[in-house]
Amino acid sequence: MTVPVPFLLGAAALTLSTAMQSPARAQSAPAPQIALSCAGCHGVGGAGEGSVPRIAGYDRQAFVDNWSAFRANARPATIMNRIARGYTDAEVAQLATYFASLR
Ligand code: HEC
Repeated sequence: MTVPVPFLLGAAALTLSTAMQSPARAQSAPAPQIALSCAGCHGVGGAGEGSVPRIAGYDRQAFVDNWSAFRANARPATIMNRIARGYTDAEVAQLATYFASLR
């Protein structure tokens, strides 16, 4: 019994598009998917890692406010000021809802 080739190609394309996703290209992915790029620094599920702060359970409004501050360089940051510019307001709203929902 063999697996049909179109199925294999589809699976490979899916894996590739997920792996290649970067903040600038993540236009309309659902929050959990664009949130994957945060895990490398903030840990899985935003639990925090090393000196990178925990963002799981972060207050939704505070998240949106802090994001604007990062974007505007109004809050001191080593990296988040640059990352913040890669996401649309709609994506920030999704991320805020998602991380606020985590415990
Ligand atoms: C390259 C590592 C890195 C990535 C990727 C990253 N962050 Fe951050 N994040 C940081 C660091 C470091 C800080 C502390 C502020 C600073 O120095 O920029 C921070 C701070 C924050 C804060 C403020 C936390 C607080 O205590 O007030 C939020 C919210 C946040 N990040 C959300 C996100 C989200 C959402 C993503 C994914 C879209 C993300 N970050 C991706 C490194 C990262």
